[in-house]
Amino acid sequence: MPFIPFDLERWQSTWENRVRYNLSESGVHPLSIGELLELAGAPARPLLEVRLGYSQSNGTDLLRSRIATLYPGVSPDQILVTTGSSEASFVVCWRLIEPRDKVAVMLPNYLQTWGLAQTFGAEVSGFHLRPERQWEPAPEEIRAAIAPGTKLVVVTNPHNPTGHVLSNDMRDAIVERAAEVGAWLLADEVYQGAEVDGRTTPSFWGSYERVIVVNGLSKAYGLPGLRIGWLIAPPGFSAEAWARHDYTTIGPSGASDHLAAVALEPRVRGELLARTRRILRTNYPVLETWLRGFGDTFSWQPPQAGAICLVKYRQAVGALDVVERVRAEYDVLLVPGDHFGLPNHLRFGYGEELHHFKDALAETERGLRRVFTD
Ligand SMILES: Cc1ncc(COP(=O)(O)O)c(C=O)c1O
Repeated sequence: MPFIPFDLERWQSTWENRVRYNLSESGVHPLSIGELLELAGAPARPLLEVRLGYSQSNGTDLLRSRIATLYPGVSPDQILVTTGSSEASFVVCWRLIEPRDKVAVMLPNYLQTWGLAQTFGAEVSGFHLRPERQWEPAPEEIRAAIAPGTKLVVVTNPHNPTGHVLSNDMRDAIVERAAEVGAWLLADEVYQGAEVDGRTTPSFWGSYERVIVVNGLSKAYGLPGLRIGWLIAPPGFSAEAWARHDYTTIGPSGASDHLAAVALEPRVRGELLARTRRILRTNYPVLETWLRGFGDTFSWQPPQAGAICLVKYRQAVGALDVVERVRAEYDVLLVPGDHFGLPNHLRFGYGEELHHFKDALAETERGLRRVFTD
């Protein structure tokens, strides 16, 4: 099987901790451990007493019971806690995909499952979110991409990189078509809770018996360093995914599991999500004013969720060249649209602390004005 490198993660893994200004991140400015405990009103002692043994490998009972309350009718046994939602999606793909299986993926996208499916030998088709439809897909394209015999359909909602939230009609169209052809439906909901207007995106969970949901604490909660994600699936599937997880990381770190349970205590969870919305609502207008300052260079649709804004530019220079020059010469990390399958686009992360974000934009402006006029 061909190995398909995950270009976006290669780019971020290489540079995100080496640049002065990181505008490649899609979540909000992360909390420190101290800030999380303070926000929770929790003493540090229990964390310090976490034993550094192997923690319960599918997630502690406390953490799984807190996750279970977020999904009506789910028992803690249906939850597998993973090392980030990426591991959850990995074990799902590994469990389901065999050579020559048909997999349909929403595009553009965070291309983890798209690359993995090809690496596992699948034939991958895409259904596209269309800018001229305010980033909704076309119903006829959904039907064509989710052809009879499709094994797995993958959606990301809210969506990366557009920040779009699917309309109810489009959700229904995807679920109905997956059910019609008997495909599994994997819904990556890692941006759920990071909606700018505060209206939580409904989960795909419960819409069809072959739905698997992945989520985690990296984006809406501002806690990517905990590396805590989870999947929810029908009981038999969760057990099989847990067995796969024995081969990947065995289990999450006990300290992370402990802090994740702190974060998902209902009051604390509410405050974390409110913090995220505050950051989004404060920073987006700053970004929008800044983008407008470039005249007719950029076109974009305001994101509905996530600290991300996807922007198209009209200059005839490739985005890979733009981001590489801005990184090398101005120490700012942006994401090229090519990493999602969209040339001539840039993705700006706008979840940083405001003063740092403004400095980053000032430096980015110097870089882009130079690159666009050279
Ligand atoms: C849509 C999507 N899914 C999953 C991930 C991976 O997140 P995690 O930190 O939970 O592994 C990302 C990260 O950017 C993402 O954008």
